[in-house]
Amino acid sequence: MDQGHVLQADFVAMFGPLTAAYRAPGRVNLIGEHTDYNDGFVLPAAIELSCWAGASMREDSKLTIHSGNFDESVQSDLDDPDLQPSGKWWDYPVGVAWALRRAGYRLRGANLYIRGDVPIGAGLSSSAAIEVCVGYALLELSGHPVDRIRLARACQRAENEFVGMRCGIMDQFVSCYGAAGHAVLLDCRSLDYRLVPVPDQMQLVICNTMVKHKLAASEYNTRRAECEEGVRRLAQVLPHVRALRDVSRPQLERHRGLLTQTIYKRCLHVVTENERVHKLAAALQDGETSILSQLMLDSHRSLRDDYEVSCAELDLMVDLACRQEGVFGARMTGGGFGGSTINLVNAADSDEFRRRVAAAYHSATGLNPDIYVCRPAQGAGVVDLPARNPSAEVP
Ligand code: GLA
Repeated sequence: MDQGHVLQADFVAMFGPLTAAYRAPGRVNLIGEHTDYNDGFVLPAAIELSCWAGASMREDSKLTIHSGNFDESVQSDLDDPDLQPSGKWWDYPVGVAWALRRAGYRLRGANLYIRGDVPIGAGLSSSAAIEVCVGYALLELSGHPVDRIRLARACQRAENEFVGMRCGIMDQFVSCYGAAGHAVLLDCRSLDYRLVPVPDQMQLVICNTMVKHKLAASEYNTRRAECEEGVRRLAQVLPHVRALRDVSRPQLERHRGLLTQTIYKRCLHVVTENERVHKLAAALQDGETSILSQLMLDSHRSLRDDYEVSCAELDLMVDLACRQEGVFGARMTGGGFGGSTINLVNAADSDEFRRRVAAAYHSATGLNPDIYVCRPAQGAGVVDLPARNPSAEVP
């Protein structure tokens, strides 16, 4: 049975008749790491691993959510002006309802049965998948046309202000705007974007290190604060600078004396990473695969040495990948401190790649990595459901 059938059956067993079902994907970022909250550029792709929601309307103002993954339900009142976070998984969906209301949407009560297969803590944005899926469902059930920009923004706000993670817009945006076979080149300041085709013979191979270091969330917010400090100091002499996006490499070098060594390194990563995003997007577009490897390695090293968000397991996974046949490029992906690497691999070599990397990683660490071989997938939308009772249609 496919996801649609399973979801439908589970929903009906718990809540009765289903109105509609929705899906929103996780993502993998090809390049442009820690640039989104610096108003910079990113190049992510949506993936098939997703969150699904079966949904029906209610007559009252309650939002009831059941998670198939956690086998746990929660109920909140959409009219409660004082919804509070609890530190539990439901802060993501409840936070989205909270943010949509703050954005001015009136929401109707709803029952949602959600389930996802984006692994949690793997750096593949299970949080954006659940946020966008629930936001999409709540908007549609309440009769609002889905404005994807407003949806992505509300989901980011939920995570920033309700969950307390100061993430950028990348994950929510690509979960809304992903397109099959394409990466999304996004300007995180203007939110202008362009689809960049990923060549047919190229697979996105995601290697999950199976580790997530505890520091991830707090270090993420620290990095963000360090970038803001860099902007404050550079803006003293460069008044046009609103974000690190506005700083060129020569300007950074000229005014290096204003920065501590740590803040300089953080800024250096962001400034050089923005340049690499454009180069990698152009190389993919033009089919110039020979330069992908260096760009991705430079990105990884910059994240490891200047931004300091890699870890031994990610470094090892990239190192193992670079030794295999048919690899166009490899680097860590997502926020870092564990999670996954992204590898661009020639389709004909991807099975062998998976087998060899898994074996070598296991013999070095004792861990069995999950490895997903995929292609860029479609962004959020309504799921076509099988007819609920097909026999009823037979005369
Ligand atoms: C996390 C955040 C994103 C982005 C990446 C790093 O995935 O949610 O907004 O900052 O880290 O590129």
